[in-house]
Order: sequence, then C-alpha cells, then structure tokens
Amino acid sequence: MGSIITFAQQKGGAGKTTVLAHLAAAWSEAGRKVALIDLDPQRSLTRWAGLRNDGNVDLVESRDYRAATDMKASARTHDFVLVDCPGAASNLLDAAVRESNLVIAPCQPSVMDVWATSSVIDTARRLKKPLRILLNRFPPRSGSAEEAIAALGDARAYLMTARLGNRVAFSQAMLTGHTAPEFGRRTAAAAEVEALRAEVEAALAA
Ligand SMILES: Nc1ncnc2c1ncn2[C@@H]1O[C@H](COP(=O)(O)OP(=O)(O)OP(=O)(O)O)[C@@H](O)[C@H]1O
Ligand SMILES: [Mg+2]
Repeated sequence: MGSIITFAQQKGGAGKTTVLAHLAAAWSEAGRKVALIDLDPQRSLTRWAGLRNDGNVDLVESRDYRAATDMKASARTHDFVLVDCPGAASNLLDAAVRESNLVIAPCQPSVMDVWATSSVIDTARRLKKPLRILLNRFPPRSGSAEEAIAALGDARAYLMTARLGNRVAFSQAMLTGHTAPEFGRRTAAAAEVEALRAEVEAALAA
C-alpha cells in the first residue's frame, strides 16, 4: 500500500499546491509512482498536472463525495497519494485526513498564518493522525519568523526542520508544469526540496 498525504491549511496561499507538486516531482524523479487528487475547486493542481508530461505522476479525477474511496484505491496502485485540500474546515477535510497516513500543513511565517493553522491542527489531533507543519516562503533573515514560531505554542512539536525559502523559482517553475529543482539541480531550492522529501519519508516511516 502506498502512503496517503493530505495537504491542508485554512489560510489561502500558504503553499499547499506548490509544496505538493514539488514532492510529487521529487518522487517521480526517484522512480516512484505518484497519484494526485485535487479536491480544491480552484483546480490549480489539476492545471499543473495537465501541463506536465510525467509517466510517474497520475491525476486521479475525483469528487468530494468519493474522495475517500479514490484515495484508498489510488494507494493500491501508487507509492504516494497526494491530496490537495480546499482550506476551510469542512467534512471534506475530515474525510481526507481520516484516510491519510500524514497531514502536511504549509504555513507562512506570520502570526496570522499560524493562527489559521489551528483548524488543521485540531482536525489532525481529533482524528489522531500524524501532522507536520512546514514553514514556507521563509524569509532570508529568520528574525521576523520568530514571533510566528512562538505563536505556534504547543504545536511547535509538529514543526518540520525542513523549510522552503521565499524563492521566485518555486512559483515560476510551476507555470510550465515543472518544479524548481528541474531548472537547477544545484540550487538552494533543490536542496530544500531534497531535505523536505527526506523528512517526509522519515515521518511516514515513524
Ligand atoms: N516557497 C515559495 N516561494 C515563493 N513563492 C511561493 C512559494 N510557495 C508558494 N509560492 C507562491 O505563493 C502563491 C500561493 O501558493 P500556492 O498556490 O501553492 O498556495 P495554496 O496554499 O495552494 O493556495 P490556495 O489556498 O489558493 O490553494 C503562489 O503564487 C505560489 O507560486
Ligand atoms: Mg492550492
């Protein structure tokens, strides 16, 4: 059985789709089979997948009412099932988290973004699912992020060591169905994605 990972964060623009896509491409590159399930009506993951020509990455057409069924079925045929969730706390978030081996909540290092993370934290705790919070668009000088990290309180226990910096490469690459490391293997962005992938795999193995 493959691993099911749901990407959730109530706050829009936190980086759910970007982070999900970068992990998908990293695992594809490593020869792993990846299924993408896009439950966000904005369908940005669907567009990215449509631009991408990748034999290891399959977009699974799904609908809210059968999301759980599609997630389980995809885990039988793929190494990783990556689920892009719409933000707000909903029955859909519950259904997706319930089927997941891991929940990843990308979060920008600002106090208000941290506050918005509470619905995902509550959902993961209630359903007893492992959660990791990934700081995304991390500023070059980390000082300004300290307040946000402090605002996490107890939830600092979920914080990943890996972080993604605020880099144009992450957004630009997506426009053509790619990811940042595909435009530069020896870049800071590529190193960050590699560290992220390793830490997610460790979390799944724990
Ligand atoms: N690490 C990063 N560096 C620079 N830009 C980033 C980074 N991560 C995301 N972005 C940009 O921030 C915006 C929001 O990212 P993204 O769409 O992945 O977030 P999201 O959580 O999926 O948003 P939504 O809630 O709208 O689905 C996009 O324009 C994306 O290109
Ligand atoms: Mg999105």
